[in-house]
Amino acid sequence: MAQHDENVVWHDHPVTRAAREQQHGHQGVVLWFTGLSGSGKSTVAGALEQVLHRAGVSTYLLDGDNVRHGLCRDLGFSESDRKENIRRVGEVAKLMVDAGLVVLTAFISPHRAERQMVRELIGDDRFIEVFVDTPLAVCEARDPKGLYKKARAGELANFTGIHSLYEAPEAPEIHLEGEQLVTNLTGQLLDLLRRRDIIRS
Ligand code: ADX
Repeated sequence: MAQHDENVVWHDHPVTRAAREQQHGHQGVVLWFTGLSGSGKSTVAGALEQVLHRAGVSTYLLDGDNVRHGLCRDLGFSESDRKENIRRVGEVAKLMVDAGLVVLTAFISPHRAERQMVRELIGDDRFIEVFVDTPLAVCEARDPKGLYKKARAGELANFTGIHSLYEAPEAPEIHLEGEQLVTNLTGQLLDLLRRRDIIRS
């Protein structure tokens, strides 16, 4: 892979992140949802985005299943492909934070090292790790896409939680019990955003 070229120089532009944030009326941050497939990441992120959008917050939701249809369509589920998936999404999220958006990401992002890499890329003060903690047995019973069934039948390799490791966050900004009602979970996230003065309404 091409490395950083010393002849490519960073260019600062007149419209800054602070100016864009002022126009939006709030800071740019990332809510980084992590959890098993079927844990509820996309559902909770989608419900939260809807509430924020209605309140006039500028948002964007990056969802693993969707991003893998475009930006990351060349990637599979090997350890190195997942790492590259999260690296790309981290860079996109960073640009969106720079644009002043409240970015919600819903990726399994199973490795602590990659989540830490994105935290460092974006900055601790703008990275909110959201652990959607739903027991494997519950995710497997939900099986919304029938993938756990396929994985158990040996039709799907490297499936997270079955033959591929999920490393739970040790100190997430927020730890959600994924079996609770979605309205309850979005309520906890809204409280956090208000406490951190990211939203006022
Ligand atoms: S990540 O591990 O690289 O962060 P990502 O969130 O983009 O994963 O994609 C996960 C989604 O891809 C799952 O919700 C599921 O729908 C689908 N998927 C297909 N194959 C696998 C697999 N082997 N392991 C996990 N998810 C898979």
